[in-house]
Amino acid sequence: MSTVTPPSRLHELSADEMAIYRQLDPEQLPKHIAIIMDGNGRWAGQRRLQRFFGHQQGAESVQYVVETASRIDLPWLTLYAFSLENNLRRPETEVSFLMRLLRTYLVGNVKRMNDNNVRIAYIGRIKDLPQEVQETMQWAADQTARNTGTTLTLALNYGARVEIVDAVRDALAKIAAEQSGPLPLQELLAKLSEQHVSQALYTAHMPDPDLVIRTSGEMRISNFLLWQIAYAEIYVTERFWPDFRGLHLLQAIREYQCRERRFGGLGNPPKAKPAEPERVLAQ
Ligand code: IPE
Ligand code: IPE
Ligand code: MG
Repeated sequence: MSTVTPPSRLHELSADEMAIYRQLDPEQLPKHIAIIMDGNGRWAGQRRLQRFFGHQQGAESVQYVVETASRIDLPWLTLYAFSLENNLRRPETEVSFLMRLLRTYLVGNVKRMNDNNVRIAYIGRIKDLPQEVQETMQWAADQTARNTGTTLTLALNYGARVEIVDAVRDALAKIAAEQSGPLPLQELLAKLSEQHVSQALYTAHMPDPDLVIRTSGEMRISNFLLWQIAYAEIYVTERFWPDFRGLHLLQAIREYQCRERRFGGLGNPPKAKPAEPERVLAQ
């Protein structure tokens, strides 16, 4: 018997989603799923469309996936929407289109976020985004701040290496400030622990992702949450992001539940075969 209270909005899943949900173990659902939403350009290219159409269709996928996540009571969903490298290395026309799309997406979907009890948050170098984009982002976060269901975190202008460098700097500064007087450098460095760094990352308040999903088949992490995914399970699908739906999120969770997480240990010993019941010999 499960001791977990079933999500109250399961009846809102489609029949296909429900069929997969029924195969899941409610006690072993991931708490945090992070998704590298890749393949918008290829999706468009396959249809002889410009890349922009792929991004537009990708924004539709975001909403479908967020709503399914909220219906199964997933506490944390983090989506890699725009990397630091995308900002630096893509043409200005594409970057400014993505910025406009982000604003349109937020303005158009805040009501649905509220209907689904979803709270919006962000990680990344947000301060380097255009002012009007930051304002819309802040507005969407404020409008959804009181929601208590899924926290949807959008990684925007995000790069994991920069995040780690910033976190180490902040952690050392904090340790230094907590001392009664100046410490020799060696002593300061010796005090730095994993916990100090974790607590200085953008994600300090979240559990680490249990599952990372990447769409479009690339077997790489592309500078996403490098610290936090140390022991995450990785699921790569060939499907392009604009074709990804809640059903595929549930399929990824089903695959995740078939994995054995070991965290460097030896895992569960193979189950001993149940002893044969004693035969009652015929008298
Ligand atoms: C992912 O799709 C969206 C962003 C990185 C902003 P891509 O734009 O990377 O699409 P592909 O990988 O070129 O197909
Ligand atoms: C990763 O996709 C970044 C996002 C999904 C936002 P990219 O398309 O930028 O990754 P690479 O360049 O193929 O590694
Ligand atoms: Mg890509």
